[in-house]
Amino acid sequence: MEAHYEKLEAEWSSVDGSLEYERLVVPTGNSDSPFHRWFHLKEAFSVDLLPTILKQLSFEGMSELRVLDCFAGGGTTLVSALETSSQVRVKATGIEQNPFLYHVSNSKVRALQAGPHLAQQLRKGFEEVRRLYVSDYPLLTNPPALSTFSNEAYFPPSLLTSLLRIRAAVEYSVLPAVARDLLLTAAASCVESSSRLRRDGRALRYASERQPREPWIEFSNRVEQMIEDTENSQSTTGLASVLLGDGRRPLLHIDESEKKDLVIFSPPYPNNIDYTEIYKTEAWYLGFYEDAEQFRSQRHRTLRSHPSVRFSDEYEYESSGDSEAVRELLDPILAAVPDDRYAAGRRQLIKGYADDMLTLFRHCRKIIASEGRLVYVVGNSAHGSGDALFVIAADLMMARLAELANWRVEEISVARSLRRRVTNSRFLRESVVTLSPA
Ligand SMILES: C[S@@+](CC[C@H](N)C(=O)[O-])C[C@H]1O[C@@H](n2cnc3c(N)ncnc32)[C@H](O)[C@@H]1O
Repeated sequence: MEAHYEKLEAEWSSVDGSLEYERLVVPTGNSDSPFHRWFHLKEAFSVDLLPTILKQLSFEGMSELRVLDCFAGGGTTLVSALETSSQVRVKATGIEQNPFLYHVSNSKVRALQAGPHLAQQLRKGFEEVRRLYVSDYPLLTNPPALSTFSNEAYFPPSLLTSLLRIRAAVEYSVLPAVARDLLLTAAASCVESSSRLRRDGRALRYASERQPREPWIEFSNRVEQMIEDTENSQSTTGLASVLLGDGRRPLLHIDESEKKDLVIFSPPYPNNIDYTEIYKTEAWYLGFYEDAEQFRSQRHRTLRSHPSVRFSDEYEYESSGDSEAVRELLDPILAAVPDDRYAAGRRQLIKGYADDMLTLFRHCRKIIASEGRLVYVVGNSAHGSGDALFVIAADLMMARLAELANWRVEEISVARSLRRRVTNSRFLRESVVTLSPA
């Protein structure tokens, strides 16, 4: 398989990009930057990535810039785009499938576009919520129907009641829509810190040693940050919006005539991380799922990068003109999957991921401007263990699939090595790949 990857890589220009990108493929600076800091997404890229890419591509001098992020997450691209809009007229669009992350990114971009008067609305709204919260008013504080919330080791009962009372107080208050959504974002961003659960990058884990924080204090601090950031914000001339939907198929949401100068995204990596799971407590807390069935359907709507649900074993590429080329690409990877009890799930993951990426590149190709670029950030991952360990080189796999969708691979820039004790493969890495329309 290493030979297969070597051969693939030799077809393109591959460079060491660690100097520019090592710190930008992770959320460097996000927790200190206004607006970005409102919800910390561990899997985000840096607030500085977009400006760096614009410079690299010599796009900063353009009078107008149309940007699309198909996997908007916490909205890093969109907020960064709005922040550059003092130099360029920006129109940025994001697509996000997770209802909670959509809520977060949407509330951030609406706040940035609302301007400084929002600070006043937030201050008034917070005061109203506080009055209700401390009153004797009987607010509805039923816990969400997710068993995690009824585990007293995870959520100490008094803190849970307080969290639920904050949410109810926001919902009962009469507030302008943007202020209300922001206060809900602030409330949801206290869920993890008010519990003994910790997101460790792969899953939500029980951390018995953790001292949960008092929700009202956490909430007040978050709202205080929002007031400070909106008060100090410059009014932006840029436009940004987020759509709740499937980023693999942007043409479902965007007309083919609405060309983009830059499509930039970091998709879920094929490393088994399931965003629906990782951000489930916040999503249930805000009422985005009412029962287990809705939660399961949400998982089915996500990119096939994880085996949390059994996706159908059907692949569009198999009935397309590219089926032979995709098979040539995938066969050596599929052959490296060890024959153990995970084999079927792993093969499905590889085929499903490739199928989704091919669809995505085809859609994006139709909306890219003739001088436009597509930039993706992706990490490769190791699966299995011991002698049976194998690497899914998503950067190379995606580059080949992009070619099949009529893109030219301009450069694979290796941002950082992820080498672990378990493997020495140089393909275990995270890359920034630039494509142009062929
Ligand atoms: C690596 S994160 C993106 C983080 C983003 N770049 C940021 O800085 O916040 C990948 C995102 O893809 C989302 N996602 C998964 N499947 C999706 C789909 N089918 N359509 C759109 N978004 C999806 C996940 O919910 C997650 O937010």
